[in-house]
Order: sequence, then structure tokens, then C-alpha cells
Amino acid sequence: MADFSAKLKAPVYVCLLTYGCQMNILDSQILSGNLARQGFVVTEDETAADVVLFITCSVRDLAERKVLGKAGKLNVKRNRRPEVVLGVTGCMAELKGETLLGGKNVFDFVAGTHKRHLIPELILRALCKRVAESEVTSVNAEALERLGIALAPYMDECLPAERKLFAVGRDEAEDSLDELEAMRPRPWQAFVEIMRGCSNFCSYCVVPYARGPEVSRPADEILAELKTLASSGCVEVTLLGQNVNSYGKDLPKGSISFPELLAEAAKIEGLKWLRFVTSNPQDISDELIDLMASEPKICRYLHFPLQSGSNRILKMMNRKYSLEQYLEKVAKLKSAMPDLWLAGDLIVGFPGETLEDFQATLAAVERIDYANNFLFKYSERPGTAASKLPDDVPLEEKKRRHAELMALQGKLTHEHLKSLVGTTQTVLVEGHSKRNRAVLQGRTTHFANVVFEGDPSLIGKFVSVKMESATPLTLYGSFERLPGDEELTNEKESG
Ligand code: 5AD
Ligand code: SF4
Repeated sequence: MADFSAKLKAPVYVCLLTYGCQMNILDSQILSGNLARQGFVVTEDETAADVVLFITCSVRDLAERKVLGKAGKLNVKRNRRPEVVLGVTGCMAELKGETLLGGKNVFDFVAGTHKRHLIPELILRALCKRVAESEVTSVNAEALERLGIALAPYMDECLPAERKLFAVGRDEAEDSLDELEAMRPRPWQAFVEIMRGCSNFCSYCVVPYARGPEVSRPADEILAELKTLASSGCVEVTLLGQNVNSYGKDLPKGSISFPELLAEAAKIEGLKWLRFVTSNPQDISDELIDLMASEPKICRYLHFPLQSGSNRILKMMNRKYSLEQYLEKVAKLKSAMPDLWLAGDLIVGFPGETLEDFQATLAAVERIDYANNFLFKYSERPGTAASKLPDDVPLEEKKRRHAELMALQGKLTHEHLKSLVGTTQTVLVEGHSKRNRAVLQGRTTHFANVVFEGDPSLIGKFVSVKMESATPLTLYGSFERLPGDEELTNEKESG
């Protein structure tokens, strides 16, 4: 991989705009670390940036439209700074590839999901081109002078027109960015990727096309990363994969399974809370449920997507389980951990979804009593199996079903939060509340959102908070004390 750090003789400012899931947040942290190591200056200020890089999501049409809308707005601002580069990576880049360049498109380069390592080079090529073509004005003179110094060693190499400005697919050398260089804004909390891609092919979903088949990271690499994180003060880790329960199935025989990996992670001193997403119902094992119940470091929260409460729709979605099988898993989970909070994903308005199907979803949500649900209106994705079915639920009806489900889930979420009022909970403090910077915000083991008054020095620490009231989405409490080490886990609750 080219290393530019020795040669960048003036700052080049890069701003990353991240859309979509936790995978993209982690990708953005890894890219930030990689760019910083290569001598770029990563900034959150998009107006000061020479390069804006979009880390995109294609799971729904809306996610793509958001990116295109934002890129369009930034393009207008290039009237004043024509040298600014707009780049795109992530799922949308992989799926749309070269079509995002040229014509009416505003992007200067495209890097697919397996080409993250080429981004520094693509940035330089695009920037050299823009700088060479930009007229000097009173607005951009200073920036052009600075960029001229930074780019001088690259101009000859980057300018020839045949230099490619896109890289997608999995043909060349694989992406091998070092996760350890990720720039994590909160050092006490980390996302760690345990696998990439998905081989499930749910009929509505574009992820297997955008991210490729499931590829597990070797366990020793993951555990080494966890140990490094723990030794630098990280206390909470969320293991990431589209389908964590099939971890290791693509690795050589004898490799460890997901529950075994989790058990090893729990042995690491310093790590106090372990979370993981996403668990698909068909693959969750008794072994995992037993481990969750007996291992106090594993948080009492499980993301366990149902997608629909109708067996007819589940079948059309290629979800590989029935509602009855799902309920059976939920019963096992709840009997092993009565205090477990469940979250899910649901899609309304899948092709052919009748009112009866939708009623089945409502009934399932009520029965399962989710603490939270991510609710989506079906969005037809080109190339997926479901895109061959007529998208026949009208948008107005999708909106109506979505709102009805939101109201039901809102009630259940509020009930869950209210059930904690009067109790004292261990909370990991994440920062200032976004709405009111005078108070602190954190999460319980159940991932409940908690706001309380406290000293900013508590940020990044575990605290005991007495819960006093609950609004539909937030618990309000008062700081009691710093908990003892033995209280940090849910040992007592599960014992
Ligand atoms: N339309 C609507 N929602 C979708 N999801 C995935 N694909 C689509 C689609 N085409 C939802 C699923 C998945 C979550 C990440 O996004 O619920 O679990
Ligand atoms: Fe998409 Fe299904 Fe894979 Fe999740 S499990 S990423 S919904 S194909």
C-alpha cells in the first residue's frame, strides 16, 4: 500500500460523512485512522475540507437519496472552491460503481467496499486533477497555494488522464486496512468487526451484493485487538457482523464458533461489557443462550430481527424461520434471562403484504414485548429477488402501517423504561446529552438511554444512577456513586 505520510508537505483536510449502520461507523473510524497515519488531516468541519468522503448505505432508497442530496449541495458550494473533491465509498459506491462518475454526477472518485485501502491514492489523483483545473480566485487562493505545496510530489504521477478514479469489485488485492489504527472518538467504547459481508440473501436486501459473502476474521486477530483495546482503557466492546451467529462457518475446520469467541473475549481483563449485533433467529444456538445467561459481562440486550410476523411474508423474504420458531427462541432467551431486553427490525409493506399479514406483525410485536424496534417501510432494491415482485403496497398505506407500528412500539418502549424507575442501575456514561449539554447521557446494560446531572469527569466511567422518571425514549435519574467493580456486570441480576 502506498504510504504518503513522508511526502505530504502541507495539510490536506478530509471530512468523512457517514451514513447507515454501525459497520459504516467503524469503517469511518478505520478510514480516519488510516488517512491520519498517511498524513492527511481529518476534520469534522465540512466547510474547511479539501476532500469530502461519503461513506454510504444502500439498504433503502432514502439512504441513497440523502447522500445524493447532500453531495448536490456541496457541489453547489464548489462555485467558490472548485478544487474541492467529493468522493464516495461504502455500499452505494460498490453497487453503482463507475456510473457515479461523469455526466451529471458530482463525485470525483468511487471506492467500493473492498477497496478502502486505495482511498488515499484516489484522493490524491482526484485532488491533483481538480487543483490543476481550478482557477485562482480571492476565495480559494490560500487553499490552492497550500494544496499546491502538498501535492507537488504527486502531480506528474497523478495527472495523466488514464489514472483511474474508481475501484470496485473483489478482483484485485483484497482490502487489508488495519482495524487497530481506527480513530475511536470514545476510547472506552469500541466497535470491533468479527466478520464482513452476508451470505443470507434475504429477498429484499442488497447487503450480500454490496458487501459480498460472509468472511470471518480469524479469532486470534480479533482477540489480539480486544486485548490491545482493553489495555488502552476500553471497557465496552460491540462485536459487529451482519450475522454474528454464523461466525467461523467459513473458516477452516476446527476454528472456534461465535459463543466460543465471545467466551474468550469475556476472559479479557479490563473489558467489562460485551455487546454484539446482529443475531439472526435461525442461527442462534442454545450454547449462545447459555453463555449469555452465565457470563456476567454480556449485556442484557439482544438485537434479534423478526422482519415480519406473518409466515407467508417471512417465506417470501427468504428468512428461513417461521414465527413459531422465532417465538420458541424468544421463550428460551427469556426463560434463561428474564431481564433481557429484546430489540428487532421490522419491514412494513413488503410486496403482497395484506392487512392480515400486517395484523400478524402487530400481534407478534405485542406478544414479544420488544424494548425497541427499528421500523422500515419496504424499499425496492435493484437486483434483489424481491425486486422482481410488484411493489404493490401504496406508499400512503406503508406510511400508515409504519405509524401504527411506531405507536405500538412507542408504548412498549415507554413501558420498559418505566419498569426501571425506582431502581438503581449501572450506567456507562457516553457524554453530554445532545439536547442539554449541562447534563450527562449514558446507557444501562439494557441499552436504555439515561440522562442525569453529573460532573463531566464521569464521562467514560461506569456510575450508579437512581432512576426517577421515564419519558417515552429516556430515563431521567440522579447520580448515586461510582459502583464497586463487582457491580459493573449483571452478575447479581442473573445469579
Ligand atoms: N427495505 C426496507 N428495509 C430494509 N432493510 C433491509 N433491506 C430493506 C429494504 N429493501 C431493513 C431490514 C434490516 C435492516 C438493517 O434494514 O429490517 O434488518
Ligand atoms: Fe440483509 Fe438478511 Fe444479510 Fe441482514 S441477514 S444483511 S437482512 S441479507
